[in-house]
Amino acid sequence: MDEAEIKSHLTTTSFGQTVFAFSVLDSTNSKAKALVSDGVPDGTVVIADQQTAGRGRLGRTWISESGQNLTFSLIIRPAISPSHIGILSLYAGVAVASGLKNLTGKSPTCKWPNDVLFVQKKCCGILSETVFSGTTVSAVIIGIGVNVNQAVFPEILSTKATSLFLTCGKPFDRSVVLAELLKQLEEYYTYIQSGMFETIIDNWKRYSHMLGSSITVDQDGEVLHGTATRLADDGGLIISSEGKEVKVRAGDVTVIL
Ligand code: BTN
Repeated sequence: MDEAEIKSHLTTTSFGQTVFAFSVLDSTNSKAKALVSDGVPDGTVVIADQQTAGRGRLGRTWISESGQNLTFSLIIRPAISPSHIGILSLYAGVAVASGLKNLTGKSPTCKWPNDVLFVQKKCCGILSETVFSGTTVSAVIIGIGVNVNQAVFPEILSTKATSLFLTCGKPFDRSVVLAELLKQLEEYYTYIQSGMFETIIDNWKRYSHMLGSSITVDQDGEVLHGTATRLADDGGLIISSEGKEVKVRAGDVTVIL
């Protein structure tokens, strides 16, 4: 995908209007981090057809077939305090879920903090990384990987991963998918910029069925069991466990069915 093709589908006013498109990069998040110090504007997008060292949450790698999917990073410069950074994970998950719903007519779900699934299988992963200037937030890089046209996944992922192609039985134009996701990301960003975090949380709840469920959270090998009760206004997940409420900021959640 080149810059002209991407721009021809955009309906946004700022998101994606500055775009750096590459055929190969190590990681779009790493490239975006380097660009932040060059002073690129809010809404800048870095995209690659192939990543050689795509990064996932919790130190994992992100594997994505070259030229089949979307791997991109959005640079935002939100007016937000460091204590509310966690809300940005929910923001990105909700915006992507909303875009994927519009594109497919199906019902994606959000899994805390920001995976987007179709029928319990992951279609999108998001890695948010914050760049600080002293103690203030200078920029946040929202790295988004969406499985678009990939039809076959490596054995280790095959029971856990899906794509738009596998969900709908037809291929999608990646630049159309990107344009819809950027539209939703730009729309939901207005809630971030006006401090309407409750609206983000309310929308996240529309896309998630995990509140009220029994879950386990794996935090670096330490496993917590409990009931997911609610979201904190900073985006943390509140779990009731052994009669106590615990706030979780990161980790891998499994819903016990
Ligand atoms: C996860 O689910 O663990 C998050 C995966 C995030 C992957 C995306 S692909 C584009 C961006 N660049 C990266 O290196 N990672 C993110």
